[in-house]
Amino acid sequence: MCGITGYIGYRDAYPIIINGLKRLEYRGYDSAGVMLYDGNSINLSKVKGKVSVLEERVQENNSGQSIIGIGHTRWATHGIPNDLNSHPHLSQSGNLAIVHNGIIENYASLRKELKDRGYTFRSDTDTEVLVNLIEEIKIQEGVKLGEAVQIALNQVIGAYAIVVFDSEKPDEMVVAKLGSPIAIGIGKDNDEFFVASDASPFIEYTKDAIYLEDGEMAIIKKGREVKIHKIQDDEEVDPNIQQLQLSLDQIEKGGYEHFMLKEIHEQPEAITDTIRGRLLPEQGIIKISGLENNMKRFLNAERIIIVACGTSWHAGLVAEYSFEEFARIPVEVEYASEFRYRDPVITEKDIVIAISQSGETADTLAAIKMAKSKGAFVFGVCNVVGSSIARINDSGVYTHAGPEIGVASTKAFTTQITVLTLMALRLARAKGTITSADFRLYLQEMELIPKKVAQLLQVDKHVKEIAQRYLLSTNCLYLGRGYNFPVALEGALKLKEISYIHAEGYPAAEMKHGPIALIDDRMPVIVIATNKGHYDKIVSNIQEIKSRSGKIIAIVTEGDITVKEMADHVIEIPETEEALSPLLTTIPLQLLSYYIAVMRGCNVDQPRNLAKSVTVE
Ligand code: AGP
Repeated sequence: MCGITGYIGYRDAYPIIINGLKRLEYRGYDSAGVMLYDGNSINLSKVKGKVSVLEERVQENNSGQSIIGIGHTRWATHGIPNDLNSHPHLSQSGNLAIVHNGIIENYASLRKELKDRGYTFRSDTDTEVLVNLIEEIKIQEGVKLGEAVQIALNQVIGAYAIVVFDSEKPDEMVVAKLGSPIAIGIGKDNDEFFVASDASPFIEYTKDAIYLEDGEMAIIKKGREVKIHKIQDDEEVDPNIQQLQLSLDQIEKGGYEHFMLKEIHEQPEAITDTIRGRLLPEQGIIKISGLENNMKRFLNAERIIIVACGTSWHAGLVAEYSFEEFARIPVEVEYASEFRYRDPVITEKDIVIAISQSGETADTLAAIKMAKSKGAFVFGVCNVVGSSIARINDSGVYTHAGPEIGVASTKAFTTQITVLTLMALRLARAKGTITSADFRLYLQEMELIPKKVAQLLQVDKHVKEIAQRYLLSTNCLYLGRGYNFPVALEGALKLKEISYIHAEGYPAAEMKHGPIALIDDRMPVIVIATNKGHYDKIVSNIQEIKSRSGKIIAIVTEGDITVKEMADHVIEIPETEEALSPLLTTIPLQLLSYYIAVMRGCNVDQPRNLAKSVTVE
């Protein structure tokens, strides 16, 4: 996690760095820091807290004279969040400064060695060990910064994206990557360079960027082309300069109070973008290029294993229902973190589908590597273009949700379900496991989903009233069956991560096997009771909750009568096929968590302890 930025050029570095850190704050926000070099000395400011706290601190001291600097927003791994553990870290001499995203696993032994050589440490971090190791190599071997960084990185075990600055060579910076992402923005005629964990901090300055690959390091120097080398053997690599597609309005709040609310409201457009060019109802076809190119492999697959984490794992569970119902392919859905450390039975006939919004989740990335090493074909479903997972897969599809900045995943989830459902239907067509009439019906229904989501977003006011009633709850139960069981899990995750209310999602029938003991008149139970699901069974479950005085908030299909009479509150969704209903039932649950969290005074875009990209295991 952690966000890093850097600038070297001719403009005032501070506003570029501080605004960049604000855009990267979704990656972590325990503490923040900036190092500015004014031509004579290094000025370091670092504080516990958010970037806004850092901004207040630096405002007083910034002379506007620095055209070089690096910054960091932290998600703590080694050492509690406090001023001393914040980045940047300086070397013992004070000449080198570093920002780091990742974990140095062998930091303890390196720290001991350095201590034996007289180094003292101000912080508890692995990063301070790394910067001192670089300094020690630079001094002992009499080499330049780039070489010292390279030698040091060959001694460390772990993951990193780093930027290192040396005040003895103040016209350059060294950038390196293994496991954590880093992008370099290139100014006109190489007169300035930007470095950041993603391209968002520099999109108003340049559209030309290089994403370093794992095991690469770059030396950036004003007025000179970027030089990239492999860390291990120094082999020179040709820089692959890409044109950024990102625009500024995509990463701004656009009048909404929070990114999460903006992203909830962007769903009609995001789903439209996801189906565009893939769902062609007039021609009666679905066309997904990553899938078409590997159709034979999919048709011969004996099994699909889906690996993912968090919300993406919930989307995988929905896909388990659709792939099995439509394409009749057995599916297993695995937490990437468990899968990677088991010794799973994987054969060349298996297809692994890895789902990730960020494309950087460490456990998902490791699960992919493991599956590939056992001969499986890995197909990625990612949102962030060019991300590590998107690059490492054998093939894949993008969800086209656009940047998702709120830590709580919303539009990423619905677009993942959209693309996975299209895949299931396309495979079913190719396998002949769906009739043409049903296939056409689903195409038409899917085309209507963005409009129905837009219609559903009008329930905003009604959901707010419900939120008001339950904002002081301490526990909450979410129940669903079939396609809407994963939605119940997702609804509970949304509530707990942004409002800090304890919530559990369950398959409705499982309630009797334990959770029913929790139900009393203070327990809100959110039940998804769509008309084409296992409606009668859900109605019985609702009766059981009612008999124990639970408060029922039901998500029902328009025109429902039975549940309406039993529930304390109902939220209606437009009619659709059950397999597509998660795309609708999710929306009120997102809004409910959002409003409860806002009413409880929580920071919905940056909930405590969380970060958007989980790049550590
Ligand atoms: C959910 O709201 C969270 N942001 C989290 O569970 C997330 O889905 C998970 O960390 C996986 O992230 P990814 O999709 O970027 O891999």
